[in-house]
Order: sequence, then C-alpha cells, then structure tokens
Amino acid sequence: TGMTTLDPGFGNTASCSSKITYIDGGAGVLRYRGYPIQDLAVGSSFLEVAYLVIYGELPEPGRLKEFSDKLRENADIPEDMGAFIDAMPRNGHPMALMASAVNTLAAYYDDSADPADENQVELATIRLMAKLPTIAARIYRNSIGEEPIAPDPSLGYVENFTRMTFGERRPDGELGELFGKAVDLLLLLHADHELNCSTATVRVVGSSQADIYASIASGVNALSGPSHGGANQAVLEMLDEIRDSGVELEDFLERVKNREVRLMGFGHRVYKNFDPRSKQIKNLATQILDRDDNPDELFELALRLEAAALKDPYFTERKLYPNVDFFTGVIYRAMGFPSNMFTVLFALGRLPGWIAHYREQLHDPAFRIARPRQHYVGSPERRYPGQG
Ligand code: CMC
Repeated sequence: TGMTTLDPGFGNTASCSSKITYIDGGAGVLRYRGYPIQDLAVGSSFLEVAYLVIYGELPEPGRLKEFSDKLRENADIPEDMGAFIDAMPRNGHPMALMASAVNTLAAYYDDSADPADENQVELATIRLMAKLPTIAARIYRNSIGEEPIAPDPSLGYVENFTRMTFGERRPDGELGELFGKAVDLLLLLHADHELNCSTATVRVVGSSQADIYASIASGVNALSGPSHGGANQAVLEMLDEIRDSGVELEDFLERVKNREVRLMGFGHRVYKNFDPRSKQIKNLATQILDRDDNPDELFELALRLEAAALKDPYFTERKLYPNVDFFTGVIYRAMGFPSNMFTVLFALGRLPGWIAHYREQLHDPAFRIARPRQHYVGSPERRYPGQG
C-alpha cells in the first residue's frame, strides 16, 4: 500500500467516468446531460428532467406521457407494505422510516431486483419513481396521526404527492398552483449532483452487484446526515433557534467562527463561488415569501444571516456561500411541511439521479467492485499473551 495516495473524503479522487451531470464549481455551472439547470428550471418539469437524467435524452413526443402513465399505474404500494410502514414508530424520523421501506421493496418486488436483467432494472426504475412519493406521504400521514390517502391516478406526479400528503388541507386556487410549481421546481433542482455522498453510496453499494432497491435505500441513509441532505432540516432548526433565543447575528457568527457550531446551509465541496441551485431557490423563495402584505419572518432572518456571513472574511476567505439547502426549508415550512420531512423531499428529488448512476454503472466497461485502500497506522505486529 506504499503506492496509494491518501485522499480523505475523496476530495481529489475520481472513481468513475459519467455522462450524467457536469459541474464547474469555480464558475457555478450545473448541467444535467448538457442542459444548463437555469434553462431546465424555466422550461422543463421534474418528470421531464427525471426522464432526461435517467435515460440520457429529453423524451421524444409521446414518451413523457408514456413515462408518466407508467408511474401513475404503479403508484400503489402493496397492502402488506402499507401495514409494515404503519407498524414502524410513527414519531420516528421519516428518513429512517423511508430507508427501511425502500429496503423492503426488493422483498415485495423480487421480480425486478436482478441487476443483470435490463428489463428488471427498468421495471424497478418505474416502481421506485412511482412508489417513493406514496411511501413518503404515508410516513407523513402516520406522523400526524391521520389516515393514509391512496394515490389518485388522474393526477400528475407532484400534484398526487401533495394531495396524498395534505389531502384537503392542500391550498387551492392561485396559491395551490404556486406551491405545486414550487415543489416541482425544487425537486427538479435536486435531481442529480454527480458524486455527492448519497450518489457515491448508491454506486458503491451497487458495485457489489447488490440490487437497485438495496443500493437506493443506502442512498437514502447517506442523504439523512446533516452534512448532506439533512442540512435542510438543520438550517430551519438553526433559524428557529436564532429567532427564539434572540441572539444577535454577529454573536451567532462568532460561535461559528469559534467552531462551536457550523453555519448550516453554507459551504460546498465543489462550489467555490456560488451554488447555482441556491440562486434559483432564493428567487423562488422571494416569489413565494417576500410578500409586502405578509412577509415571512424566517425568510427575512435567513436573508439577514446570509448577508451578515457574506460580509465576514471568515466565510469569503474560505469560499463559503449558501448551498442548495439554505433557502429550501423556509419554503417547505411555509407550505406546511414539518422540518423532519424536508430531507424526504430532497430524496424524492434526488431519486432520478440515484437511479441514473446505478444504471450507468451497470453498463460501464470499467465497472468493478468499489474497494478503496487505506493507510494503516495501527500497532506493528505484537505477541498475544502466552503465544511467544
Ligand atoms: N460553517 C463554518 N465553517 C465551515 C462550514 C460551515 N458551514 N463549511 C466549511 N467550513 C470551514 C471548515 O471549518 C474549514 O475551515 P478551516 O480550513 O479553517 O479548517 C473550511 O471551511 C473548509 O471546510 P471543509 O470542512 O474542508 O469542507 P468540506 O468540503 O469537507 O465540507 C460541507 C463541505 C458541505 C460538508 C461543509 O461545508 C458543511 O458542513 N456545511 C454545512 C452543512 C451543509 O450545509 N451541507 C449541505 C451541503 S450542499 C447539499 C447537500 O449535499 O446536501
């Protein structure tokens, strides 16, 4: 192992070639399959982007409807699986419950779990995309002690999810439409991000030829941590704490600089200038929350915190800018999602990316098991007592 390079956190190691997502972290560029995220945000939809990310091209006419019809037809989960979800602790963290539920998919659908069979992988793709919103909504309904709402095959993907989640409490009219569009855009902006921790995890697990359900359940678990997808929940908790304690922002940032706490929603391994997703999401938050008649207190606080951090050389010298998670929570909160559901929403958005990477890897001529090396720094050989 003398020849191996130590690279903690894989900051400088490319473990595969990929055609899915391009990031230029210095310039703040993000493209899915060559299409800039800004163009997709304006012209596309989450489902179209999911198709693009998974299959590599924008859908030919008719293909998007076909895809969406398949998802509608497969949105139900087996009754037993519903009972399994209902039997888990209802106040447990939704990410833990979701990962467990996804893990069982291979047991309910073992006819689509063979990675060597392309038709099975395709069927599993449809099942995962179709059922994850149903699973997420059921977990949420359980957490608030309400009956689950079955998927409605007449509704679109995002609409169906918000209906299964909020039922009749879903806002209608102009506000309902605005919220629906906002969820769609947020999912779209999360659809892929090359080899982030959860996607790398999906690839690593899949590299042992584990099936797609096991691999994606592992991705859900990787996403749950506060350094990764769990950051959106952590940001909201941080904002709540700042508001409730009444601490001055400068004093809070002093605590960050003293390394007592991290400024959640700031910093990124790859973006060293700005995170293009964060810009989009800040615009969206402004549209939804910056209303003269009804300004959102937490959004205002987030804006002031962002401004205070960006004035401080600690952050600018380290190139720490708001990332995708900084402004999402205030939007989700305003829509009525509790903060422990935020990372579940991230998972719904990231699912196409996980699937695309799992599938790409299966066809990679360089495909082999992920097996990093280490630098051993433990004890040299020593004798077990009584053995010499
Ligand atoms: N608050 C305060 N200091 C920070 C932060 C932060 N959020 N992020 C990085 N730093 C400092 C860090 O202490 C280090 O300083 P020094 O060189 O003096 O030791 C320097 O900046 C470089 O940081 P790093 O830890 O080497 O950066 P990393 O690439 O290993 O970590 C990160 C990236 C995203 C995990 C980290 O920035 C972080 O913990 N941010 C807060 C959590 C967060 O918002 N995560 C979401 C990431 S984006 C979407 C996603 O993946 O879900």
